[in-house]
Amino acid sequence: MSPVLDIAQAGVRFGTGPAAVKDVSLRVAQGEIFGLVGESGSGKSTIANAVMGLLPATARLDGSIRLNGEELVGLSESALRVRRGDEMAMIFQDASASLDPTWSVGDQIAETIRAHRPVSRAEARARAIALMGEVGIADAARRYRDVPHRFSGGMRQRIVIAAALANHPKLLIADEPTTALDVTIQAQILELIDRLRRDHGTTVLLITHDLGVVGQVCDRVGVMYRGELLEVATTEDLFTRPAHPYTRALLAANPAGAVRGSRLPVIPQEWSTESLDAANAARDRRAAHG
Ligand SMILES: Nc1ncnc2c1ncn2[C@@H]1O[C@H](COP(=O)(O)OP(=O)(O)OP(=O)(O)O)[C@@H](O)[C@H]1O
Ligand SMILES: [Mg+2]
Repeated sequence: MSPVLDIAQAGVRFGTGPAAVKDVSLRVAQGEIFGLVGESGSGKSTIANAVMGLLPATARLDGSIRLNGEELVGLSESALRVRRGDEMAMIFQDASASLDPTWSVGDQIAETIRAHRPVSRAEARARAIALMGEVGIADAARRYRDVPHRFSGGMRQRIVIAAALANHPKLLIADEPTTALDVTIQAQILELIDRLRRDHGTTVLLITHDLGVVGQVCDRVGVMYRGELLEVATTEDLFTRPAHPYTRALLAANPAGAVRGSRLPVIPQEWSTESLDAANAARDRRAAHG
């Protein structure tokens, strides 16, 4: 089956600076939850923004990004806007920042629907209430009129997820969706994402600092370092037999492996280009020998 998301040799450069993303290729299959991990500044959000067509005008994007077979690189802003929401949606770390504080949450979800579908106000409202119920907002019909600050942080994140799902996107990109939340609420949000995948076959690109999050929900994982994708493995293989020395160093620095809530450490070793090349070669040799 062809992948929902197919990134090939993608590179991103901001202005005249060094590449923020270098030659990244990855494919995410339908219904898969693919985790992208890496320390701060490794290029995770840049990849997400490149897929969504949300890079600033100063960025130069090379390579290919296909969504359900369609090339996104080079599409006009208006064409991308249609795909955002309809085919792909993104949820960000901070739910409060993506919601308008002055507007009822229900109307914000309904507006997302009406921006993409020719439905009546009443239909959009009914669908927004159904979505709120689906993401676990109790008494959704009554809560429709409430503004965001009437909800807890975890509930606001659920509302952001409901808005992202409003038009049944095939691809959901979640950039640190649980980082701002406490551990119990984190687990609930991850369960929600997992359930959406099971019930709707949603494909998920999940960006996180947290190896515990990876262990909880991801099928496969990609490890980023300084703009490069060093390793892609099943979650099990990543934890039990990491191929890349950098990944091994990461896991060694987090000996409990999948302790939820522990952020990825910055590995003290400076990986020079040479040591990275040597490490990549070692990974490839291991891969070649099974
Ligand atoms: N709009 C921008 N303009 C210039 N440089 C940027 C911009 N966005 C990101 N960068 C640079 O690109 C590199 C990758 O940043 P990115 O935000 O993708 O990292 P990240 O892996 O998401 O980090 P974090 O875990 O802190 O969110 C960094 O060096 C960052 O400074
Ligand atoms: Mg980021």
